[in-house]
Amino acid sequence: MSSSAEAAFLADHGGDVLFCGRGATALYLAFALARRSGDDAPEVVLPAASCATPANAACLAGYRPRFADVDPLTGLTSLEAVRARVTPATRAVVFIHLFGQTADLTALAAFCRERSIVFIEDLAQAQGARLPDGRPAGAESDLAVYSFNSTKILDCGGGALVICKPELTEAFRVLMARPWPPQADSGVAAQLALSLPQPASRSGGSLARAAGNSSRAFVPATAAFV
Ligand SMILES: Cc1ncc(COP(=O)(O)O)c(C=O)c1O
Repeated sequence: MSSSAEAAFLADHGGDVLFCGRGATALYLAFALARRSGDDAPEVVLPAASCATPANAACLAGYRPRFADVDPLTGLTSLEAVRARVTPATRAVVFIHLFGQTADLTALAAFCRERSIVFIEDLAQAQGARLPDGRPAGAESDLAVYSFNSTKILDCGGGALVICKPELTEAFRVLMARPWPPQADSGVAAQLALSLPQPASRSGGSLARAAGNSSRAFVPATAAFV
């Protein structure tokens, strides 16, 4: 695991970083963390325009996806559109920063917080983008998801999950203790360390390191996303 790659993510988010095999894997984990115990039919609100992976990962994690309308010019969703799809079963809302575009997410994040809905920002297409107020894209998220596949901004392969909310870090440790423990991908971190700027690290750190993982590839519950 590379501390310089972690530092670049922590500088934008704080929290804990897990490098994994794909962005899809990071999404799957994010959904697993947002689920509450006893949930048998959780729902997630996703933008209606995006690649299929976030919705597929949601279904794989046992969610019913509900699609929020998007702006026809930008393809980004909004608080109003999300609000129209939220129900008592909603456990997560995903905002996708499509094609590097960002939006002011303060109100949407507050809306989710007030309802104990986990707010996930998918930054697969917006690594390094800035919010309208100059903060890094992802600054409002409870969970931030990255992809480094060959069509993305950094194409070293793999993905990352950044856990920005302390309660979810604890939930992640519980998840790690299950019979299918995810393993961090140190290869992804090493590749990223070559590509990313290296700001000073904030609080937080590597979940994978905390869990004692070093070199094995991340293995999700199913082989579909490896
Ligand atoms: C918005 C978005 N989220 C998630 C993913 C999934 O990333 P990966 O291909 O690394 O699984 C992609 C890209 O394919 C994407 O465009």
